[in-house]
Amino acid sequence: MLVPEPEIVGCVVRNANPAGCQARVAQQIAAVRQRGTFAAPRRVLILGSSSGFGLAARIQLAFGGGAATFGVAYERAPDAELTGSAGWHNQQAFDHFAESAGLQAQSRFADAFLPQTRQAVLAWIREQWGQVDLLVYSLASGVRVLDDGRRCRAVIKSLHNPLEGWGLDLAAEQLIRQQVMVAAEQEHRDTVTVMGGEPWQQWVLALQQAGLLAPGFHTLAFSYEGPALTHPWYRDGTLGAAKRHLQQTADALRMALRPLQGDARVVMCKALVTRASLVIPFLPVYLMLLMAVMKDKGLHEECPQQMARLFADQLYGPGAPRCDALGRWRLDEFELRPDVQHAVLARLSELTADNFRQLGDYAAMRSELLHQHGFMPIAG
Ligand code: NAD
Ligand code: NA
Repeated sequence: MLVPEPEIVGCVVRNANPAGCQARVAQQIAAVRQRGTFAAPRRVLILGSSSGFGLAARIQLAFGGGAATFGVAYERAPDAELTGSAGWHNQQAFDHFAESAGLQAQSRFADAFLPQTRQAVLAWIREQWGQVDLLVYSLASGVRVLDDGRRCRAVIKSLHNPLEGWGLDLAAEQLIRQQVMVAAEQEHRDTVTVMGGEPWQQWVLALQQAGLLAPGFHTLAFSYEGPALTHPWYRDGTLGAAKRHLQQTADALRMALRPLQGDARVVMCKALVTRASLVIPFLPVYLMLLMAVMKDKGLHEECPQQMARLFADQLYGPGAPRCDALGRWRLDEFELRPDVQHAVLARLSELTADNFRQLGDYAAMRSELLHQHGFMPIAG
């Protein structure tokens, strides 16, 4: 089959190279195996399993910890004209390699927000596993269809003042000026509905009501807060509001799971390249500066390294998760180091449309995104 050319629009790659996606999943599996084994929970349900943190978590738990996994993702299948999405090929590749390794892997392409998806997955778990030990919630979506059929859209806007700053266009390979407007009350609510904790809670409570939670059941969801520089457009914006709701959901679930000696946590991750992150205004510019600084200091991480620390080193390894005053687990301590943030700010203050490729790790960021879609790195 002909290798397609990447189709880039803004900071989104719209197609994928199937063979490259498979090779990348194989590479992640090899890295996990090389690191050695640990004792993972036996039966793991992952919502958002086809890319980013969810895929990295699945590979870590299955190939490092021997877990049986059930993955749910919502992706575009290939057809006569289009290659299908990278996540579709990633998930197929995962299933293939898991089966070859004798690991149980069950995958669905379905909308995890819909009650019928929940019912079908619950029925499978009841029949095949009896119970589930861990649920990883890693959905990133711009839309959620509600039970009454209404389509709710997440918007990435400010809650206080309109903002303007540098953005990036990876197709044009240029810095651009971006504006972020103030969200209307309904947009704010809708973003919390899509990216907040309600669907997470629905899954956990449905599993609990069906008697499918194993004693000691754990669940976790990924979040971001970032340094002061990003607060106006992330923490203090609509996405930050959704993440606060996710945190409140973790607190409520922790209470609900007490009788089982269970646990529910939000995990604060670092900013890194995924399909979901690069569509956030201003984030690509911050990220390419952060990547340059963290590489300089030998601190660079992508999803696989974050998930290795979480699962292999901390949760199911010799260490323990780093817990903050709000009960959140933290994997973002290197990003937030004062020396890292000083260096990022220094670079940002010198940034122009002409020097961004030198001040930021522009080429590596672009090739990481292309790589995630199965395309080989292309010099920026
Ligand atoms: P991603 O785009 O790589 O992965 C999103 C996953 O969700 C995919 O598997 C996709 O198929 C799935 N999905 C989307 N809609 C779905 C639906 N309706 N039903 C079923 N599956 C669906 O994104 P990611 O960056 O890995 O994001 C995962 C979580 O991590 C998000 O909560 C995000 O906020 C959080 N996070 C991301 C970053 C970052 O920098 N990327 C940092 C901290 C936290
Ligand atoms: Na994910």
